[in-house]
Amino acid sequence: MRFTGVKGLHPHMQKILLTEEEIQSRVRQIAGQISSDYAGQDPLLVGILKGAFIFLADLVRYLTIPVQLDFIAVSSYGNASESSGAVRILKDLDQSIEGLHVLIVEDIVDTGLTLNYLRENLRAREPASLKVCTLLDKPSRRLVEVKIDYNGFVIPDEFVVGYGLDYNGHYRYFRDIMVLKREVYAR
Ligand code: PRP
Repeated sequence: MRFTGVKGLHPHMQKILLTEEEIQSRVRQIAGQISSDYAGQDPLLVGILKGAFIFLADLVRYLTIPVQLDFIAVSSYGNASESSGAVRILKDLDQSIEGLHVLIVEDIVDTGLTLNYLRENLRAREPASLKVCTLLDKPSRRLVEVKIDYNGFVIPDEFVVGYGLDYNGHYRYFRDIMVLKREVYAR
């Protein structure tokens, strides 16, 4: 457990799903694949705020090729734990992506609605190529099919937090990915 000053599992957590070591090892592997697939292409990595910020920060430090970075912030309408399907851009990219090799970097694909919207939205801007990298994939929750090109972990239908993922803005800072106790989000 790596919650500074506190011993044992955080009281809101049911269990650790993925340890820091497991995550780092997989992120390093994915970075290796991306480095080899995009060699010579100077891709633009687009981080989806806020959840992807830690994954993206680790990913780029394991890459062995030059990349550029940009960010887009989206919000799905709905409550804290259920997406309604409608997506709104809160902060758009700073630059045109026309003619660039773009890699979307997400923390999690759940229903697929956010990614589906982003793929269509970014494709319309005519990048040279458009691919998707996600750390976590929860296929059991999918409402719309989305192609994932780089996939860190397929996970069960549990409410996970940590390593960038939150519940109501909390717990993003954990180094491990943990399952939140149902009583915390169901109350
Ligand atoms: C999460 C996650 C994805 C999206 C996935 O973002 O980062 O963007 O939900 O869900 P979906 O596949 O059902 O669309 P969230 O809306 O929680 O915002 P955040 O990244 O700022 O925490």
